[in-house]
This record gives sequence, C-alpha cells and structure tokens, in this order.
Amino acid sequence: MALDGEEGDMPATATRVTVPDVRARKGGEPLVMVTAYDAPGARIADEAGVDMILVGDSLAMVVLGYEDTLQVTIEDMAHHTAAVARAKPRPLIVGDLPWLSYHVSVEDTVRNAAALIRAGAQAVKLEGGAKRLAMVRGILDAEVPVMGHLGLTPQSIHALGGFKVQAKLADAATQLVDDAVTLADAGCFAIVLEAVPDTVARLVTEAVSVPTIGIGAGAACDGQVLVFHDLLGIEDRVRPKFVRRYASLKDDAVAAMTAYAADVRSRRFPSDAESYHLSDDTSRALGLYGSTANTRGASKSA
Ligand code: KIV
Repeated sequence: MALDGEEGDMPATATRVTVPDVRARKGGEPLVMVTAYDAPGARIADEAGVDMILVGDSLAMVVLGYEDTLQVTIEDMAHHTAAVARAKPRPLIVGDLPWLSYHVSVEDTVRNAAALIRAGAQAVKLEGGAKRLAMVRGILDAEVPVMGHLGLTPQSIHALGGFKVQAKLADAATQLVDDAVTLADAGCFAIVLEAVPDTVARLVTEAVSVPTIGIGAGAACDGQVLVFHDLLGIEDRVRPKFVRRYASLKDDAVAAMTAYAADVRSRRFPSDAESYHLSDDTSRALGLYGSTANTRGASKSA
C-alpha cells in the first residue's frame, strides 16, 4: 500500500481535502464551507473549489420541508451523506449528527457517528460545548474527527426560545469562549460559530488553536459557512442578515418553468428537432407517406 504522496497513490484520494489540511489553515487563507445534501449539490460545491461540504441537518428545513431541524433522523442524514459522497467530491465531507443521535449514551453516539462515516463522511459535527464532552471524546476515541458547533445551536431551539443571536452578554460570551477551548482541547478539529457578535467570535478565534467557521459570526473567523439554498437564492422565504445571496436560482427556475408551461400549452414545445421521426420506408409501409402525419422531416428516422 502506498502512503500519501508516494507513487501509486490514487489521484482521486490524493487531492481530497483532509482533516489535517483543514487544521493547518488556522490563521491562514479563510476556509470555505457550504452545505450540500445530494450528488448534484456536491458536484457544484466541488467545481466551485470549496474546502468542506457540510451535510447539515438544515436538510430538514431547506430540503425536507420541516419547520425546524429536530425532525431529521440519523437514517435521513446517512441517506443524504451517501448521496453527497457518491459524487466523490474533493472537499472534506462533514456529516451532521442530528438531534438525539448523540444525547442518549456514548455507545449510541459512536454508532451514529459510524453510520455517517460508513455513508461517506470523513468527519462529523455536533452541537454543544462542555455538556457534550463525553460524547465528543467517545467519537474521537473511535478515530472519527469531530467538528464542534457553538452559539446558536438550532437543535436547542426550544431551550433557546427561538433562532436568536447568542452570547450578547458578558457571562454568555465568557461561557462560549470556555466551551470552545474545552472542545478544541478535547480534540475537535474545527468549531462552527453561529449567530454570535463578531467580537465574541474574534475572542473565540484567538483563544483556540483550531479553525473557527462562522455563520453570522463576523469576519474574524478562520472560515465561513453558508447554507446552499440561501447562498444560491433557492430558499427565498426567510433571509437572515448574515446571508449573502450570490444567485437567484428560485426566480430563474420559476421563470424557466413558466416559459416551459407556456410553450407546452401553445404547442411550441416540442419542436420538430426535439421529436423522433419514422423512416420514409416505415412511413410508406404504414400508408402515411405524404400524409400530414409525416410531413415534418419524414426522411430523418428516429
Ligand atoms: O445544518 C447546517 O446547515 C448547519 C450550518 C448552519 C452550520 O449546521
């Protein structure tokens, strides 16, 4: 077996982003992470040259139509992680552990993390700080890299009282920094910071030795993450302040489909060139030659 960088190493794996690659970017060029939930999404992220794909539990809201992220199961997450992995993208694939998949016992947690790894993830993400330390350690002991997630943790929506900016007061900011240090010291390779004031995210970024990945956490983080459907303008019902839309794919898709519907209704679709045709011989055998049924391109067979 060839080691990385040795002759004989498979080109596909040689170029894939690894967990050590991500760690090494601390304080360097900002890391780019996006969510994706299927093979086409993974190919788009890959061709765009992002560093990490998060198969996020935001799946629940942007793909499966639920009101919050609490509805997705480990089976849902594994199903979509496998779809992303089948595209064999270059970015590191991080599978998101859904609610209740890492809250019951360490053993249960490790099995659920393994389900995402077997589906094709190279690392898993979970929400919470010191409270989840035993679970983080259990997963790391099974040799699975863990990404932390602090600040607004959507799986705690009921406990937090809604999707609200976190760590706005001094005590909560100090707690957030402590939690981040705890996760980094335990061995997490990166930490997502969601919806926290930029100054607090900067304090965390300076306090930990691993990259911080911000979403609504300002510019000081070591990287940024956005949800696929927000960034591309596929989801247009809600628009948090931190979302920058780089396209309006929903509008484009509605316009395209409206044009298609009009073409079908006015018989402008399909055209002659978009149709298959009988050969002259078959047309003659059917007694159709010269009839209206075969006047359009009869000599071009299917
Ligand atoms: O599920 C998700 O999309 C996430 C990001 C918001 C970080 O956890």
